[in-house]
Amino acid sequence: MEIIIQPDSQQASGIAARIVARLVQEKPHAVLGLASGSTPLQLYRNLVAMHRDSGLDFRGVTCFNLDEYIGVPPAHPSSFHSYMWAHLFSQINMAKERINIPDGMSADIPAACRKYEQAVRTAGGIDVQVLGIGTNGHIGFNEPSSSLSSRTRIKTLTDETRLASSAAFGGHEAVPTHVITMGLGTIMDARMCLLLAFGKKKAAAVAKTVEGPVTAMVPGSVLQMHPRAILILDKDAASGLKMADYYAWVYEHKPDWQKY
Ligand code: F6R
Repeated sequence: MEIIIQPDSQQASGIAARIVARLVQEKPHAVLGLASGSTPLQLYRNLVAMHRDSGLDFRGVTCFNLDEYIGVPPAHPSSFHSYMWAHLFSQINMAKERINIPDGMSADIPAACRKYEQAVRTAGGIDVQVLGIGTNGHIGFNEPSSSLSSRTRIKTLTDETRLASSAAFGGHEAVPTHVITMGLGTIMDARMCLLLAFGKKKAAAVAKTVEGPVTAMVPGSVLQMHPRAILILDKDAASGLKMADYYAWVYEHKPDWQKY
């Protein structure tokens, strides 16, 4: 795991945007895995600005979102479909037919999940998977106790996760109980995982993910087994890390050719 600690989320998101932009420039048919939620918002703003100001070209790029609520129509303002169109897709030139988000309205959810896995394989696999992390350590919506080798499937949200989304749905009770999420095995197949975490409330989950044991009770900890997992944190999210000084030193002393 590579741990990058930045003074704030702006600077952390700047590094994440450079990593994604470089991939898209070097590989015009890159495959991106994308997340929703508050964490990647600044990353998406940066990518929109790079497209607008420097012509970063997404025409050939394919993307797959991590998850979607079951029973929430794409046009619902709190669906992840709406989120992605509002914050990214409507402002860059990604081709509509290359945008993939799990279909939470499917009449046959297991078939929709199998189709999603197949689509990722047909696209050649994910080059960079962007991830946030829940306060309970979930990545995607793989809640604690998720199989470390799980594939795209239906999951039941924990109360903690539903509570975190209550503002978007106008109250805890209105938050859907079920989602489709890429599995931990699906995420682990990505060639690079880029996890962002900001704020004190993520510090405990980040510490367990990085320095705790690999366990299904902290789904993010599976990234310890990934050959190329990069965690970009602000100071607050990194505040529970015992070896924070070491990670900071390593990053500051990277040779130029390794810098993002
Ligand atoms: C979202 C997702 C989740 C979020 C996580 C953090 O697509 O898969 O794992 O990344 O719940 O959410 P925020 O960023 O809102 O704190």
